[in-house]
Amino acid sequence: MSAEISLSCEHIERYLGEEEERVHALRGVSLEIETGSVHAVVGPSGCGKSSLLYILGLLDTPDAGRILIESETVSHLTDDELAQQRSRFIGFIFQFHFLMEDFTAQENVMIPMRKLGQLTDAQMRERAAELLRGVGLGDKLRRPSRHLSGGEQQRVAIARALANDPKVILADEPTGNLDTANSERAFDLLQNLVHDRGKALLLATHNPAIAEACDWIHEMKDGRIIDSQHQTTLT
Ligand SMILES: Nc1ncnc2c1ncn2[C@@H]1O[C@H](COP(=O)(O)OP(=O)(O)OP(=O)(O)O)[C@@H](O)[C@H]1O
Ligand SMILES: [Mg+2]
Repeated sequence: MSAEISLSCEHIERYLGEEEERVHALRGVSLEIETGSVHAVVGPSGCGKSSLLYILGLLDTPDAGRILIESETVSHLTDDELAQQRSRFIGFIFQFHFLMEDFTAQENVMIPMRKLGQLTDAQMRERAAELLRGVGLGDKLRRPSRHLSGGEQQRVAIARALANDPKVILADEPTGNLDTANSERAFDLLQNLVHDRGKALLLATHNPAIAEACDWIHEMKDGRIIDSQHQTTLT
């Protein structure tokens, strides 16, 4: 088993909000995500799951502690360099998916590719189509995302997160709006990427069946990880 760490954080502290609304959202969180592993973060609403994912995804900065990509700290990077690392290395699936609603499914998936700027327009179009076929939306490539159902939008968001072939996928309730069949399909897709293509996945979920299928379950409460369980699969 590979012990290469793709993404980790150490002693993360994060305060959110102002004055009397100020919340100590993360209280000394440390976590290591190895290549080839699937991690679940579980815990009650408000315990800090999304806050942690945002920090690991370089979308927010901690008040204390540090983030390491492949064991190198990112603290010294400029905002531009951070954005570049994020585009290249991390695919983020948001709890509220933030699609461009006037853009088609295919155009939404092309956005991160445009940002990275490594493919031609034709290549981006083909790759977006392929990713959308992977989430069962091959027949809706040209549909504006506002004309897609909530579950379809979520699947576009999953395809978008995979656009730049990231090494780490961070997913905040990726199957929250999906029916059982599509939820299993989305999870299988992500899990296969991790196991067959050497990616790493951390997902926040309220779905016990999905958490049970992960290699690790981290239980959060009041801004802390209070338990981390390694799961041994019975196959
Ligand atoms: N921008 C903000 N300003 C103030 N407080 C915030 C902000 N964002 C989050 N919080 C607070 O930080 C805490 C952690 O929120 P977070 O969104 O990380 O929870 P969560 O575990 O993802 O919950 P859920 O399961 O409902 O998605 C909560 O108490 C929340 O109210
Ligand atoms: Mg959340």
